[in-house]
Amino acid sequence: KFHSDIKIVEVGPRDGLQNEPTHVPTDIKVDFINKLSETGLTSIETTSFVSPKWVPQMGDNAEVFKKITKKENVDYPVLVPNIKGLMSALEVGAKEVAVFTSSSEAFSRKNTNCSIEEGITRIKEIIDVSKEYNLRVRGYISCVVGCPYDGFIHPLAVTKVATALLELGCYEISLGDTIGIGTKKTIYNMVKDILNVTKPENLAIHCHDTYGQALTNICTALDLGVKVVDSSVSGLGGCPYAKGASGNVATEDLVYMLHGLGATTGVDLKKLIEAGHFISTVINRPTASKVNTALHSK
Ligand code: HMG
Ligand code: MG
Repeated sequence: KFHSDIKIVEVGPRDGLQNEPTHVPTDIKVDFINKLSETGLTSIETTSFVSPKWVPQMGDNAEVFKKITKKENVDYPVLVPNIKGLMSALEVGAKEVAVFTSSSEAFSRKNTNCSIEEGITRIKEIIDVSKEYNLRVRGYISCVVGCPYDGFIHPLAVTKVATALLELGCYEISLGDTIGIGTKKTIYNMVKDILNVTKPENLAIHCHDTYGQALTNICTALDLGVKVVDSSVSGLGGCPYAKGASGNVATEDLVYMLHGLGATTGVDLKKLIEAGHFISTVINRPTASKVNTALHSK
């Protein structure tokens, strides 16, 4: 057994769908999340309370969150960019939020219309209020190895932002390779540097698969002790402010790999494949999951 328990954070309903150009009906999103809830996944990022002018696909956030069937052993975090988003999340009864900033200045501006420093100030405001409501706050850092505008990002830049977010009170930092540009070497150097300031227990890895490196990069993080991995069923996704970035690593492929390593995920691969097949069919996209392609008709 190489790795014991690995937690998967399914981000398909948020990261996966946010970039879909055609509107996905609310009831489809709800069905999709309900199917994911039945697979054994324990954390499903449900939607984002961002500005609908920036990301119209997430404009039905409150309705989606209210309509899904919430299972007791599943967390349903939502992404929030500011206090306004946090208030909307609180109104619908969210118990966990995810905040986000970047290790690259240019991406921070494109994605959130503010500098990294201003982004961290917004996060502080969110965390201060979250504490009053006992909300758990997860922190994302984008562009951890490279940025579509600024190019190569030095590990020290990531460690600096991670340190700030941990000090503010994020319980976990998800390290986002937003444009999937990382390789074993750059991911290794980046995670290793952050481990100078925190334990692997406080980290998660979030790999987009644009260059086909995601599984290798995830393995590299696992070998350094990271035990939480973000993924998107069917490999859905991308960020509207990172042109050309493709989806996250497919959850089906991740689960197949983890089970092959002897790790426990609690996820039923067959049910996951059905959920992936459902969403790719309704949004009329071929699945990006190789495991789904290989196993669905079997
Ligand atoms: P802004 O335009 O600077 O905001 O956007 P503003 O405060 O000036 O407000 C402008 C308008 O937006 C106002 O409305 C606000 O009320 C409204 P108006 O007066 O014009 O009618 N507004 C909101 N409405 C609803 N909910 C809100 C909200 N906030 C303001 N929360 C802002 C700044 C941060 C809001 C904007 O840039 C934004 O929403 N950005 C989010 C972009 C996004 O969702 N990106 C994708 C998610 S991050 C990601 O995918 C990366 C990740 O997966 C990790 C990785 O892969 O790297 C996490
Ligand atoms: Mg992402």
